[in-house]
Amino acid sequence: MIRQISAEETYKVRQEVLRPGRPLKECFFEGDLEEDTIHLGFFEEEQVVAVATFVARKNAIFETPIQYQLRGMAVLPSHRNQKLGEKLLHKGEEILKSRNPNTLLWFNARETAVEFYKKYGYSTTGPAFMIPNVCMHIVMYKTPTEL
Ligand SMILES: CC(C)(COP(=O)(O)OP(=O)(O)OC[C@H]1O[C@@H](n2cnc3c(N)ncnc32)[C@H](O)[C@@H]1OP(=O)(O)O)[C@@H](O)C(=O)NCCC(=O)NCCS
Repeated sequence: MIRQISAEETYKVRQEVLRPGRPLKECFFEGDLEEDTIHLGFFEEEQVVAVATFVARKNAIFETPIQYQLRGMAVLPSHRNQKLGEKLLHKGEEILKSRNPNTLLWFNARETAVEFYKKYGYSTTGPAFMIPNVCMHIVMYKTPTEL
């Protein structure tokens, strides 16, 4: 039920969940079209209902040379609490580890989602900060040995 999808196929869910009321162009993320970017979609009756994207991006606060950033994790409200977020996260981790076991995975977590990620072994680091027009975020990560 999870498939690799194109960047474009993520936009509808991203818009509804992460950028409600904002133009579709705000649902395009830097790195979306890079060759090594991974977009995952969870399908129900041929409709994408949850998405997550993994982009090869370094964050200078980490020394690990190989880093990916998780972006645009979003589950439609009608499909929450059915472990779709968990499944997308695990699938992404599995793909990254199989590509390179020395990968660190990090992301800017919405403060409202920090507890979700903690369940799966992610740690926070540094102070919370505002992403303009969105909300407060905090950096979270898993080292290569934790991934
Ligand atoms: C956060 C989000 C991706 C979680 O997806 P989901 O499919 O609803 O979550 P799951 O069903 O996989 O939840 C797994 C576990 O995490 C818990 N959980 C889910 N969302 C949570 C949250 N926001 N805070 C704390 N715990 C949460 C669930 O209760 C469940 O716990 P359990 O294993 O004890 O039953 C989803 O709620 C979402 O899209 N939220 C809005 C957008 C967002 O915040 N995205 C993340 C941006 S960084």
